Amino acid sequence: MCGIVGYLGKKEALPLVIDGLKYLEYRGYDSAGVAVHSGKKIEIVKAVGKINDLEQKLEQASGKGTCAIGHTRWATHGKPCLKNSHPHQNTDGNIVLVHNGIIENYGGLKIKLEEEGVVFKSETDTEVLVQLIGRYYDGDLAKAVIAALREVTGTYAIAVLAKDRPNEIVIAKKSAPLCIGIGKGENFFGSDAIAFIKHTNKVVYLKDGEVAVLTPKTVLIKNLQGKKVSYKVNNLSLDPSSIEKGEYPHFMLKEIYEQPRAIQDTLDGRISPQNDEVILTELDKYQEYLLGINKILIVACGTSWHAGLVAEYILEKHARIPVEVDYAAEFRYRFPVLDEKTLVLTISQSGETADTIAAIGEAQALGAKVLSIVNVPASTIARDSDMVIYTYAGREIGVASTKAFTTQLIVLSLFAVYLGRLHHSLDDAAASAILQNLKRVPNEIAKVFNEAKNIKKIAKAFHKHSNALYLGRGVGFPIALEGALKLKEISYIHAEGYPAAEMKHGPIALIDENMPTVVLAFKGRRYEKILGNIMEVKARKGKLIVIASESNDGIKRIADWVIHIPDASESISAILAVVPLQLLAYYIAVEKGCSVDQPRNLAKSVTVE
Ligand code: G6P
Repeated sequence: MCGIVGYLGKKEALPLVIDGLKYLEYRGYDSAGVAVHSGKKIEIVKAVGKINDLEQKLEQASGKGTCAIGHTRWATHGKPCLKNSHPHQNTDGNIVLVHNGIIENYGGLKIKLEEEGVVFKSETDTEVLVQLIGRYYDGDLAKAVIAALREVTGTYAIAVLAKDRPNEIVIAKKSAPLCIGIGKGENFFGSDAIAFIKHTNKVVYLKDGEVAVLTPKTVLIKNLQGKKVSYKVNNLSLDPSSIEKGEYPHFMLKEIYEQPRAIQDTLDGRISPQNDEVILTELDKYQEYLLGINKILIVACGTSWHAGLVAEYILEKHARIPVEVDYAAEFRYRFPVLDEKTLVLTISQSGETADTIAAIGEAQALGAKVLSIVNVPASTIARDSDMVIYTYAGREIGVASTKAFTTQLIVLSLFAVYLGRLHHSLDDAAASAILQNLKRVPNEIAKVFNEAKNIKKIAKAFHKHSNALYLGRGVGFPIALEGALKLKEISYIHAEGYPAAEMKHGPIALIDENMPTVVLAFKGRRYEKILGNIMEVKARKGKLIVIASESNDGIKRIADWVIHIPDASESISAILAVVPLQLLAYYIAVEKGCSVDQPRNLAKSVTVE
């Protein structure tokens, strides 16, 4: 999704803004642009493609100044091209703006402005806003921005410059992330604090409906009624080195290999020394509420939704509470049946996914309490939820989620035991067995890395295929979905995940000698059944890649390729099996020469509907 960065202070602004934009590249984009205020005029430079393309163009540009804004665009309204990329300016050229979000009523506003004689240069919804601000501008930029924002509906994070106000930037937000970085004699802002964390860790998170007037030395925040509001400065602890690739060629590979550490950090301090209780002090205040719930509704998007599907199996098994799992975008627009006895559980890596944020509001309005599992501290979802359990995966930059997913599975497993104990559906022995197994996961994942060479060979053999089927049963089914998603996200190979038993109801028609099928066949009570599915694929000459438990040597006689994971319980095997699927997708994408960390059209965090 679009990224916004800005700086104003004493330093040359453009290098800082470009650097900030590079840190936002992970969000996904198709074009980029900057505007710098030189004191007398505003120079705009834009490029389709990557930040490098923009930098090349900037070599020919003359603009210098200590106040600048920058933008990476992920196209919604209007194709990716120069005229649609940001910054946009009004017809008079005195107002310049960057925007993340969607102005939903832009059509009507555009007609009105055209009737007044405005000639639009782009196909974007954003241009309506800059024209509108220009219409209201009389020397007071914040007032004009507020007047324009009161006319628009939709979502926005914006930054606005005026030609005759060289030391001022006005920013505003509604349902799109935006935060301010307060420095000494300088101020920054960005869609994500990662854009400026190298320079300051003093961060103000702008709230919806707030407009901030920034100068190098001051920050003034107003609401849409023009009234001054107070704000809190947070000391953010984000290690800048955690956002570097280090020795790895891609963030995705680095993040795959970080999983033992990420899982350890997520487990630390959450299991009692006797291994029989889960410690989630963040839920202490809500124990009585959690004891009274009779339904859990899980709401999420993408990979986090897959984590929700895994949770359905383990929560129902351990806590004996009915669970439903829904896509956030579907949940928010249907008429869900829930009340104050329903726990709505949202799962999100970024904490900024627009549909999940909206779903939280819907759920709370219907009387439910919301517990969220989130990776990014102080993100919108974390702030909006009644209860939060953090995963400690650390920053995830690769667009394809890896360590965030496995740490979500760990938190969900802990939460299932916690609820099981609270509802007296898990006894000491059962809880202790699960928790001891969970503690072994970091080491067991490290063992899975021994399969990397084997997986690379499989990737070489399979990267030319254009389709793949992923099959699993029980908790293996959502893991199959996740494996298929990883492959399509980064290698653009069409892949489908299916519950293995459903294969006979359709996908089996696709199987021939050109169709690779990845089967999750670890030991457990469904093993014999899935072996039956493997034989069905083999009988139709399908190519078989089987993820099997270490002790299952015999599977080599049936499968074309075998990837072994350590022997473990069914639900732990499911967590371990994620890792070879991530590596398989990664090496196939590398073989194909794909842009692993920034796959085409995808965004790390989907901040628009
Ligand atoms: C995007 C990302 C996915 C992610 C999904 C949900 O599609 O590319 O990796 O799973 O959003 O994001 P969230 O941050 O809410 O987990």
